[in-house]
Amino acid sequence: MMISAINKYYYPSFTSLNREVKDADGNIKHRNNTCLFRSDMNWSALNGYIKYRFSQDKKVNIYDYACSDGSEAYSLALKLNDEFGEKDAKRFFPIIAKDYDEFTIDKAKSGKIALNAEDVQMLDFELNDYKKYIDIPYVSNPIIMVMGHVNPKFKDNVQFETADIMQDCSNIPKNGTNLILCRNFWPYLPSDEDRIKLAEQLYNSTDCKLSVVIGGFDKTDSNADNALRRAGFRESKHLPCIYEKAPFSDYDKVLETPQLAAIRYMTEDLKSYGY
Ligand SMILES: C[S@@+](CC[C@H](N)C(=O)[O-])C[C@H]1O[C@@H](n2cnc3c(N)ncnc32)[C@H](O)[C@@H]1O
Repeated sequence: MMISAINKYYYPSFTSLNREVKDADGNIKHRNNTCLFRSDMNWSALNGYIKYRFSQDKKVNIYDYACSDGSEAYSLALKLNDEFGEKDAKRFFPIIAKDYDEFTIDKAKSGKIALNAEDVQMLDFELNDYKKYIDIPYVSNPIIMVMGHVNPKFKDNVQFETADIMQDCSNIPKNGTNLILCRNFWPYLPSDEDRIKLAEQLYNSTDCKLSVVIGGFDKTDSNADNALRRAGFRESKHLPCIYEKAPFSDYDKVLETPQLAAIRYMTEDLKSYGY
């Protein structure tokens, strides 16, 4: 059975940033839409995967391309702190987060994230003690947006830079163990050829262990998954947005064991979503 990418009961709020950028002819160039713990990802399942895949690695380089306002990178950073503990989580930090849109990177660098009550609920669902990581004014009305401030102690867990993934991939040091998030932007690349080229660049970005994570939008609205498979990546059988370069992990087999029935249980009724 495939573990749904979608978290039960929640849908993307797109509260933190909901912005459309058009080119000179008025065509949509990209959208910056994002939010904390965007629900096309099962964040607990991703964490379980990271724990297994990188259990022996003293340093894991995490890149978050097309990071928008930083909500995604902070979702992962906070989740890693929560699950691994601050000391062990250090081997994943700083997460290097990049987007080619300067407007979003300026927002990300501020460490401020706009949220509504639904996002706060999501933080509470994902983290043991979200108040430790992010200061949020009291939200009484669910439709009112407030500004959350990432606690300075955790702000430096993520470093932001402006970069186009198509050029920047080749700058990744070849000798590192890498986890690369590049989610919900593949449809904005100009053509299938660009997506194929990017998949190959990602594959060749390191000579060591590598896992790539894409988003739901990438699979529904582009050929990102085919491009990654064609480049040599193997798609996880149970975690539908994770792609591995050899040496492959045997996490799919682990997920078939009764010990992880709890994760399956969490997502079982989501078969109806088609995952
Ligand atoms: C819909 S947002 C996705 C944000 C986040 N990854 C998520 O899943 O919530 C798409 C982002 O991709 C960025 N983007 C599009 N093409 C890019 C490229 N070639 N290099 C880097 N960023 C890119 C846009 O600026 C935008 O912020």
